[in-house]
Amino acid sequence: MAQKILIIHGPNLNLLGEREPEVYGNFTIDDINNELQKAAKEDNIDLEIVQLNGEGEIVDKIHAEKDKCSAIVINPGAYTHYSIAIRDAIAAIKIPVIEVHLSNIYGREEFRQKSMIAPVAAGQISGFGKNSYILGLKAAIGIIKKPH
Ligand code: DQA
Repeated sequence: MAQKILIIHGPNLNLLGEREPEVYGNFTIDDINNELQKAAKEDNIDLEIVQLNGEGEIVDKIHAEKDKCSAIVINPGAYTHYSIAIRDAIAAIKIPVIEVHLSNIYGREEFRQKSMIAPVAAGQISGFGKNSYILGLKAAIGIIKKPH
């Protein structure tokens, strides 16, 4: 059976395409998801993709999937910078979690330059536009197929 990876898009990412295109690009969340599905297929991975605006919803989803999938790729959006609840949910589970960002959070406002998630993630990819998600997926596949 194919291994499953969960992709979580956090708050406001449903507005991609119309939201600050000079920062986040002109593509939509569907464009990202189509590319992710294509890349997953090449590696025989089952993808579930969700977009959740609520912090608690993200925590609930992580709990619900912790034994059902092999890895999680998450863009926690603004929660990245202050959500101890999402950080603790990630710290509580055994599967690897890859943190991704469209923009380079270290080249932006000071409040974005701190990630609560990074210390408990397997790794972080930031600044490559929608390619951050593809790189994040590849990293997740690399870990689950051949743990380092
Ligand atoms: C983001 C960066 C965050 O600072 C911001 O709040 C987002 C998107 C990114 O993908 O670049 O919503 O996570």
